[in-house]
Amino acid sequence: MKVTVVGAGAVGASCAEYIAIKNFASEVVLVDIKEGYAEGKAMDLMQCASLNGFDTKIVGSTNDYSATAGSDVAVITSGIPRKPGMTREELIGINAGIVKEVSANLIKHSPNVILIVVSNPMDTMAYLAHKATGLPKHRIIGMGGALDSARFKYRLSEALDCPASDVNGMVIGGHSDKGMVPLIGKAVRNSVPVSEFLSDDKMEEIVQATKVGGATLTGLLGTSAWYAPGAAVSALVQAIAQDSQKMFPCSALLEGEYGLNDLSIGVPCILGKNGIEKIVEIDLSDAEKAKLSESAEGVKKTNTLLDSVLA
Ligand code: 2OP
Repeated sequence: MKVTVVGAGAVGASCAEYIAIKNFASEVVLVDIKEGYAEGKAMDLMQCASLNGFDTKIVGSTNDYSATAGSDVAVITSGIPRKPGMTREELIGINAGIVKEVSANLIKHSPNVILIVVSNPMDTMAYLAHKATGLPKHRIIGMGGALDSARFKYRLSEALDCPASDVNGMVIGGHSDKGMVPLIGKAVRNSVPVSEFLSDDKMEEIVQATKVGGATLTGLLGTSAWYAPGAAVSALVQAIAQDSQKMFPCSALLEGEYGLNDLSIGVPCILGKNGIEKIVEIDLSDAEKAKLSESAEGVKKTNTLLDSVLA
């Protein structure tokens, strides 16, 4: 499998590293606009090959998309990250134009590519990719829910004082501090509802900490996080590469699913060789449905900003 990662910054390079270490891809192409930067990151990562035991070939390209030709999957991380105190939505003015141009460049050289959009505000950038490229909806995946769910599981494991592998939980909705919907009522510790271990107050605390997980790290780091975002992307790419049929919350274009239309937002998706193999409509409580609908309104409001940005 050939994978392109556009943006050799912290998220993109982490994504490339995790993909390489998992050793399911034959080649990873890192692309960046900064002269020599992608080439340098690729070389540094390749010097880990003998140490980390991977055979994946990682190459770098300074804005030459011919190097990406024939990519099966392309990850778009390019654009500016958040600074402390910023919302993801504030990035739209700069990132929208970048995502539009990058998407066109990728498809020109890889017409059958599956796009994974990471750049923020992610749900709106994924929606932009649909509108700008016209790719079939199953070939544009927004990565947010996989990351938010990992943060949800981290908070659950912290509260339960257990390994993250002992818990499971999913976050749907928009990838935004206000729009995320951690499905706490469905979270389990080894098939047992977490409500049997945690008080209502503690569960609400976990929900809130999950929703601001990205902002918390931006406050600590001075910029957006990169390890977990990179790892989350690599999990989606691996599911596609291995046709795993695993279910992840991904930002998908909805056309009536969950009673929602004309937006990309985080919902459970089965991933495989075709990208989104199926959008899964799970049973939601009335409260969960209301939160998802409210989240969708927020995403649609951000989507309206695209008109001015792309005019
Ligand atoms: C995050 O939540 C970058 O949006 C990403 O860390």
